[in-house]
Amino acid sequence: MNEKILERIKQLREEIEKHNYYYYVLDNPIISDAEYDRLMRELIELEEMYPEFKSPDSPTQKVGGKPRDEFKKLLHPEPMLSLSNVYSEDEFMEFHRRIKKLLEDKEFTYVVEPKYDGVAVELIYKDGILEVGSTRGDGTIGEDVTDNIRTIKNLPLNLNRSSNSGIIIPNELIVRGEVIIFKEDFKRLNEKRLDEGEPLFANPRNAAAGSLKQLNPKITAARPLRIFIYSIIKPDPTLKSQFDFLNFAKNLGLPISEYVKVANGPDEVLSYYKEMLEIRHKLRFDIDGIVIKVNEFEYQDILGNIAKSPRWAVAFKFPPIQETTVVEDIIVQVGRTGALTPVAILKPVRVGGVTISRATLHNQDEIERLDIRIGDTVVVQRAGDVIPEIVKVVVEKRPKDSKKFLFPDNCPVCQTRVEKDKDEAIVRCPNEECSARVVERIKHFVSKRAMNIEGLGEKLIERLVIEKKLIKDPADIYKLKIEDLEHMEGFGEKSAKNIIDAINKSKKTTLKRFIYALGIRHIGENTAELIADYFQDIEGVISASESELRQIPQVGEETARELVRYFQNHKNIEMVNRLKGSGIEFESSKKDSDSLAGLTFVITGTLNRFTRDEAKEFITKNGGKVLSSVTKKLDYLVVGSNPGSKLDKAQELGIKIISEEELIAMIKKKN
Ligand code: IVH
Repeated sequence: MNEKILERIKQLREEIEKHNYYYYVLDNPIISDAEYDRLMRELIELEEMYPEFKSPDSPTQKVGGKPRDEFKKLLHPEPMLSLSNVYSEDEFMEFHRRIKKLLEDKEFTYVVEPKYDGVAVELIYKDGILEVGSTRGDGTIGEDVTDNIRTIKNLPLNLNRSSNSGIIIPNELIVRGEVIIFKEDFKRLNEKRLDEGEPLFANPRNAAAGSLKQLNPKITAARPLRIFIYSIIKPDPTLKSQFDFLNFAKNLGLPISEYVKVANGPDEVLSYYKEMLEIRHKLRFDIDGIVIKVNEFEYQDILGNIAKSPRWAVAFKFPPIQETTVVEDIIVQVGRTGALTPVAILKPVRVGGVTISRATLHNQDEIERLDIRIGDTVVVQRAGDVIPEIVKVVVEKRPKDSKKFLFPDNCPVCQTRVEKDKDEAIVRCPNEECSARVVERIKHFVSKRAMNIEGLGEKLIERLVIEKKLIKDPADIYKLKIEDLEHMEGFGEKSAKNIIDAINKSKKTTLKRFIYALGIRHIGENTAELIADYFQDIEGVISASESELRQIPQVGEETARELVRYFQNHKNIEMVNRLKGSGIEFESSKKDSDSLAGLTFVITGTLNRFTRDEAKEFITKNGGKVLSSVTKKLDYLVVGSNPGSKLDKAQELGIKIISEEELIAMIKKKN
């Protein structure tokens, strides 16, 4: 009996690994997310029932194990060095001439690679199984973050399963690489955090670093980490060069960037540099330059190291998109969930075509790390292509009267004493009635994807909450009368009426929008939808227990806890009751038709008749599902004008391609 179970467990592990590879490495999944979840759930259940079969190389490890109190320190088998940098063609040519001279004009080649902007890690595989993963630390001693490394999406935990046939797996393999987050995943991660009331990450590198340092690997597992491997320690004797290694690693199933190549001579290096500089904005991940390595291991050995970096390699950095400006002030913003974020007010400056006048400073640690003071001249850059960040202080230009910034002990808006979160270094204002929090909560409540009340903008909300004291919570919105608005500056009868009409119109809504609009921590749009689908009515949601909520796939411990906590507060229940009393009605999530049942759709390009959201709603209302990426299993790609690369991919895979008119006709035909 147990043998059969073990057989099934092994089969599931292989199957899941295979799909991980298709999804994360080939970027071409061959089964649906639901099928994948089913396999994963079966494996998790079997491993729970038969703990004797648990194994560190099981793909279930990718969802994260138990939290830790601290990370163990680890001695790296060889120090993790850094690279010396060059910043111009001349400096690179100087490097090249030096190498040529040291190698006494022997024939050699270079390997050129992207310089990934992430976090360096070391991995140790024993008999093909990932045993240890550590951070760089001070180069000699790092931290054991194995549990977190195991959650990296595109990293195989067992090379016996991921390698190509015929490859001999070394008894011990020590490799290094860079943990990164793709730009598209980063954008989604931050959107989700905004949605859930969490502070935003400055850029993909910070998000990757923060995620690797989580004591709770389940949090890490929820972050879209990826890795590229770039070097080997103690190479196998059959490997003669860096390029051999990269190919070997690829055959083992390790993730290697497609942009690595051999360069014959300095001219080819320089054209690679120019090419990468040109396409860096189109890459899926951030790079801050290229790395140039002498290819042949034999010559690397001859060249050796200088102090903390190898003589045989150099980073050729891209010119940064940076400018200097002055910090005029540091203010603290209070978010919907009370999170306090320090923000630097800058003398406006143009960086890469965009004017920057503020930059988030994240938290007190970040301010201390950079030692930013009011009055300082600072270097700012646009990171991750969008969010401005302060890179460093130009200490030489610090004025005598520069002022240190002290994080307030009390909320700057309502003066309540602040509290610090246990896990992440977030300071919060705990006062639910803090007017800054109320304003943010109302802004969220009326936003497009929540109750969608047009015309109730930020300024008006501030006036109604702070000046007029007419709104204390979302339910008060529905008590507003034309008379309340028409006498306000800038308002007439007509504009006041428009707003009241919009408020009334919003009363017809869906349970999903309503749950999302409440702005409960951790409950973004997706989670709100899952909860709405599960309970179907608000009473069920209000009385749900943590364990009941955990029945919903994808609803985790923290989300369940926050939701239950929200409804334990009688004020919230009372508010929801007032909202219901004011005439809010939930359109049943009943479908318009089943015409599209069982069919999947992806939308690309700009549509004429629908916005993206409307098209999605149209499809789901008629029983179909909308996916985000094109896979073999997709049924239809709906194409508008200026379609993206999804169209090419769909054509390649032979997916049916339809216009929005054809989509609409699919419903009409059946009805
Ligand atoms: S090789 C001896 N290759 O850059 C150092 N490093 O400043 C060997 N990095 O800590 C590193 N992309 O985190 C190498 N293709 C690449 C890289 C790369 C990014 C990082 C790495 C290292 C830092 C060195």
